Amino acid sequence: MLPDASQNIQVKFATDQFSIAYLLISSPLLPPIAFSREMVFINLSIYRFILSSACLYICLLLTSAIVSRRCSDLEVSFGVMDGDHWDTTVEEVDNHLPSSSSSQGASELNDVGEDEWQMVAKKGNQFVINDQPFYVNGFNTYWLMVFAADQSTRAKVTEVFQQASSVGLTVCRTWAFNDGQWRALQKSPGVYDEDVFKLALDFVLSEAKKYKIRLILSLTNNWDAYGGKAQYVKWGKATGLNLTSDDDFFSHPTLRSYYKAHAVLNRVNTLTNITYKDDPTIFAWELMNEPRCTSDPSGDKLQSWITDMAVYVKSMDAKHLVEIGLEGFYGPSAPDRAQFNPNSYATQVGTDFIRNHQVLGVDFASVHIYADSWISQTISDSHIQFIESWMEAHIEDAERYLGMPVVFAEFGVSSKDPGYNSSFRDTMISTVYKTLLNSTKRGGSGAGSLLWQIFPDGTDYMDDGYAIVLSKSPSTSNIISLHSTRVAIFNSMCSWKCKWGCKKKNPLEAFFYHDDL
Ligand SMILES: *[C@@H]1O[C@H](CO)[C@@H](O)[C@H](O)[C@H]1NC(C)=O
Ligand SMILES: *[C@@H]1O[C@H](CO)[C@@H](O)[C@H](O)[C@H]1NC(C)=O
Ligand SMILES: *[C@@H]1O[C@H](CO)[C@@H](O)[C@H](O)[C@H]1NC(C)=O
Ligand SMILES: *[C@@H]1O[C@H](CO)[C@@H](O)[C@H](O)[C@H]1NC(C)=O
Repeated sequence: MLPDASQNIQVKFATDQFSIAYLLISSPLLPPIAFSREMVFINLSIYRFILSSACLYICLLLTSAIVSRRCSDLEVSFGVMDGDHWDTTVEEVDNHLPSSSSSQGASELNDVGEDEWQMVAKKGNQFVINDQPFYVNGFNTYWLMVFAADQSTRAKVTEVFQQASSVGLTVCRTWAFNDGQWRALQKSPGVYDEDVFKLALDFVLSEAKKYKIRLILSLTNNWDAYGGKAQYVKWGKATGLNLTSDDDFFSHPTLRSYYKAHAVLNRVNTLTNITYKDDPTIFAWELMNEPRCTSDPSGDKLQSWITDMAVYVKSMDAKHLVEIGLEGFYGPSAPDRAQFNPNSYATQVGTDFIRNHQVLGVDFASVHIYADSWISQTISDSHIQFIESWMEAHIEDAERYLGMPVVFAEFGVSSKDPGYNSSFRDTMISTVYKTLLNSTKRGGSGAGSLLWQIFPDGTDYMDDGYAIVLSKSPSTSNIISLHSTRVAIFNSMCSWKCKWGCKKKNPLEAFFYHDDL
């Protein structure tokens, strides 16, 4: 039987109440030493009161700390933006950034909780994970699968993920195709090299997860590298089809059926036992890298292909997001937007940014940014102006006409360009980041960007001029890290529901454009 504690509690309560009353009346006047037995008792009560108040205060502090930690796990309501005042502290963000320590072992990283490793979804014009915002600071490294296929170069895959995560990058776009070429994944239509699947693509997925990096997987190429549409046309011709142009890839029913048979979605990863289409490590499927269909400037041929394939991929895999892979050129459906194109040729390549992205099944828009290859190879300030207007135009489209997020899925500058220096590259990258933050701050459609491209050390022979080797580019690494921190602030935003429990310190605005965070 339990002792009768209620009585003791009542006595204690009465004593404490008395202490409070006494304290209120006489505390400031209390002599330092009390002589009578009664006064000793009262003093003891006061000390007990002070002690219990201190305990209560500490408890309250702990509770509020726990609540503010929990905030980052709670729902964020988009659009409920309290003017421009985002009340989140930098401390909260630190918990979300990967450690930059190089001693960070893979074993530690292995414990990605299934709760936090959820599928990326879309909510209005934002990405969300578990209903929390997911703004993207990411990168491209297209050759991961090819490097992973060879024991001698395999470690480079781990290395690039490790280095990218050390500067806070969370998404990598890479090729999930290698059609009929050296170390091909797809040897002929629908026929796969099991070793390449197992040693390469399965490995890339499982390794990405270890470093908390999500993947945008592109399913084929517009260009000849690693096969692409030209290889599909070769396969078609080899079976006796009358094909006259690589653009027949988009229209010929047999070639469309080959594309549909590129069955990576149903692949069960031999390292994780997770079917690709169920794997939250995959951020999105990309229909094709930079589709263009110059044989039909009206855009109808490509539009028809996108319409067919977006719904097809969605029907196979309703869980993952789908994007097209476009560069973002304005076409015939939006003549008033043509002024934002980098050149007049851009309207002739059979793509049509707004119309293409209005297709059912397409979840978000993609845009590439290459001032040097589209405007002039010689570096100039006009490149920076182009980047700003190109990005702002597409963010506006995504808000006004598409109602979806837009990702600037490739941007970069070649070190081989006349007039190039690394400070120009830093300015260019900062411009992209600033333009995005300007959108993020007001809840706009600018959802993220992916650098073209991050390479690990010792892969210079693969460099097309655009490679960024983080260890050799401290200033660029700092810019990327800083942006990751800012993006993480938005990704850890509290909802209005729990704002009462959040510490309110620097409004985001205050340090937004300062580089000394
Ligand atoms: C192949 O197709 C082209 C155009 O589609 C056509 O002009 C040509 O006659 C065809 N050739 C044969 C052998 O059918
Ligand atoms: C995958 O499944 C196989 C066979 O059921 C099992 O032996 C293996 O341990 C599983 N691997 C993982 C990572 O769950
Ligand atoms: C770097 O290049 C830009 C653009 O060409 C130029 O304006 C700038 O002066 C250069 N800076 C250095 C340090 O050479
Ligand atoms: C932010 O975006 C708005 C709307 O697109 C634009 O008018 C403004 O100039 C931008 N500000 C900065 C600092 O880029």
